[in-house]
Amino acid sequence: RIPLVIDTDTAADDCFALLVGLLDPRADLLAVTMVAGNVGFDQQVHNALLTLELAGRLGEVPVHLGAREPLEREWRSASEVHGDGVGGLRRAETGHTTSDEHAADALVRLVREHRGELTIVAIGPLTNIALAVQRDPEFAANVGRLTVMGGSINGRGNITPAAEFNIYVDPEAAQIVFDAGFADLVVVPWDPTTLRDLVFDADAVARIAAQDTVLSRFFVRANQATFDFDLGAGLAGSTHPDSLSVLVSLDPTFAVSTGRYRVDVETVGELTRGATVFDWKPDAVPNALAIEAVDASRFFSYLSELLASEPTG
Ligand code: BDR
Ligand code: CA
Repeated sequence: RIPLVIDTDTAADDCFALLVGLLDPRADLLAVTMVAGNVGFDQQVHNALLTLELAGRLGEVPVHLGAREPLEREWRSASEVHGDGVGGLRRAETGHTTSDEHAADALVRLVREHRGELTIVAIGPLTNIALAVQRDPEFAANVGRLTVMGGSINGRGNITPAAEFNIYVDPEAAQIVFDAGFADLVVVPWDPTTLRDLVFDADAVARIAAQDTVLSRFFVRANQATFDFDLGAGLAGSTHPDSLSVLVSLDPTFAVSTGRYRVDVETVGELTRGATVFDWKPDAVPNALAIEAVDASRFFSYLSELLASEPTG
């Protein structure tokens, strides 16, 4: 099984990324690390614990609290998109708490314990990963694979016209990560999930609702706010880049098109803060493999199978 850590800012799509890590038999989820991002930090922690509880894994997979703010910028949420991230659901249990070890320290320790083997999937701003790079000069070299959900190849953002949310929130951290020398850095940009065939539209959501399992009901409820926001913005439905990021980390064959690029981040631009530049030119020295397109129908089937499962813990 693949030893895995998911670094998250747990809004709804992050919850399903966690479920992939928790329920896919190919994954050995060793820890969840929390970073400031989508919704209030304490709400994010609640959402992560709720997801572990639903998967029957509460108390088994440690949750480490990390950066409550970006390295240099003020934190900016996306609550207007996600609501509280779980549609108002509250945890049934209260008995389990989080680890005392800081997320960046946990990342450094786990990478040392699993030298060259650990896969980290970062589905929030990159603050914790940058802190780990700063705390251990050998961190990047010893990570097996780092998958980052962030940026966009075509230059279109979501939080601003030019920037995708995760990179926008902490552009300095993102640049540290892209400069760090990770041997196997995979980027899942915003682009593949904005393709029309990978959007969860009303029909896709209705099919999931009809499954009527604990997890499918959770999916519909947790994603309702984002779905409504996206429809209000004139889109066909919602995107799920975070679960896709965990999935392609476990099974790269879900990607049907990839490209090697030198990725950098705009940290000084006024209109372009947090925009990513994917240098495609032949003389560029690549630092990342970007997922450009995925098998959408396989992704939908996979998710529906996952939501059909009844975790018992
Ligand atoms: C990213 O930001 C959040 O809205 C999602 O969870 C995803 O990680 C997309 O820009
Ligand atoms: Ca996220």
